[in-house]
Amino acid sequence: FTDLLVQAYLDLFCLSQEKLRQVSGQLKKDMVRGLGKHTHHKAPVKMLPSFVRATPDGTEKGDFLALDLGGTNFRVLHVRVVEDLQKVLKMDSQICAIPKEMMLGTGQQLFDHIAKCLSDFLVSQDLKGQTLPLGFTFSFPCEQKEIDKSILIRWTKGFNCSGVEGEDVVKLLKEAIHRRGDFDIGSVAMVNDTVGTMMSCGYRDQSCEIGMIIGTGTNACYMEEMKNVKRVEGEDGRMCINTEWGGFGDDGSLRGIQTEFDLEVDKTSINPGVHTFEKMISGMYLGEIVRLLLLKLTEDKLLFEGQTSETLRTPESFLTKFISEVEEPDSGLENARRILSQLNLKWNEVDAHVVRLVCDTVSSRSARLCAAALAAIANHMRVSRKLDRLKTTVGVDGTVYRKHPNFSEELQETVRLLAPKCDITFLVSEDGSGKGAAMVTAVAQRLALHDH
Ligand code: BG6
Ligand code: GLC
Repeated sequence: FTDLLVQAYLDLFCLSQEKLRQVSGQLKKDMVRGLGKHTHHKAPVKMLPSFVRATPDGTEKGDFLALDLGGTNFRVLHVRVVEDLQKVLKMDSQICAIPKEMMLGTGQQLFDHIAKCLSDFLVSQDLKGQTLPLGFTFSFPCEQKEIDKSILIRWTKGFNCSGVEGEDVVKLLKEAIHRRGDFDIGSVAMVNDTVGTMMSCGYRDQSCEIGMIIGTGTNACYMEEMKNVKRVEGEDGRMCINTEWGGFGDDGSLRGIQTEFDLEVDKTSINPGVHTFEKMISGMYLGEIVRLLLLKLTEDKLLFEGQTSETLRTPESFLTKFISEVEEPDSGLENARRILSQLNLKWNEVDAHVVRLVCDTVSSRSARLCAAALAAIANHMRVSRKLDRLKTTVGVDGTVYRKHPNFSEELQETVRLLAPKCDITFLVSEDGSGKGAAMVTAVAQRLALHDH
């Protein structure tokens, strides 16, 4: 039995199939706008060309470095590609912490830090004398001019370093390396994490043509027909497009489904007004939505006998990982009790149940919205390839997708409903997107050798 007043709040988050179809349809329209030569400038969904045109053909080989920046962890990797589709070996990798102040400091500090992490890693791997090509996974929206020229459009998630927006990120990295002067790198390939994820799944399953992230942020990429990519010369073949679907709704199109809690999360974020869709879905924001909802229910005396706590009133005190813990099928209620005590709340059994319901409602909405977005991509691919049925694989990564007990199930079920003519297989990426970035570098190198 749920209190009707509690239910009234939860209903704000429940999206009918009809609503999801509308969301999916709207995204489809926005994708077309983003691809258009004359319409893309103002499009909320940026549809960025990635200059990745080919997936591995199995003849790539060599040693590569990879950087993976923008998710929970910043990683440096050494990858070996063996001349056989089945073999991309991660030789070693290292997580390198980025202090929170640095995420909000100057770009120069950030890139000097990245160069230092790379240098330390090379020493530890005994690779300092070599000049290896580098794959750079940079999980932010970039206007890519070439595979090694990539202008940051804007920071998203928790980053906001000065002097980087509008600049070529590859150039900033190279400058930082030259400032040190103790090592050098070969050719660079820049990729978004969605692209790295698609590529890293791509040689386990050759039909992997979509990459999706549901982690700190959310986004997807897919292989688009070149004839639809009006911004890049050429009609033949395909190119991977980074949709940046996190920006969906930035023109107000999602206003009808945003709740007062979504508006508050946006207002208090470091980038109000941008990445509307992402703020309803991804790990950086889900815990905060739950916290605001719990506060509201408490204010209305529907929880904790109307008594909040200093801790619950503190922004970001309800971590997104709590949602997964509270929703665990077996230990969920026990976890809820522990977490509520940790938040210094005076709870009873009914409260624990309500909190669980709140978490379930917020994470379900996230999964269903992602499904609507993914369905838009799959349906679009099916139609533009003139197929009755599309069979494709999605490479996926991100802590929300990986760690939440039933997120992936709910997402998959909902996609099936919204894209009934598509058979979609989901493949969780192993070892993150760094391997994929190295693979892109290897393919670029192969193509360059071929051209000359
Ligand atoms: C990692 C990938 O595994 O997942 C990153 O290597 C990606 O490139 C990240 O950004 C996304 O998940 P999260 O939850 O760490 O943001
Ligand atoms: C944010 C970034 C996007 C990235 C996503 C997932 O939405 O803008 O580039 O792919 O987070 O990390």
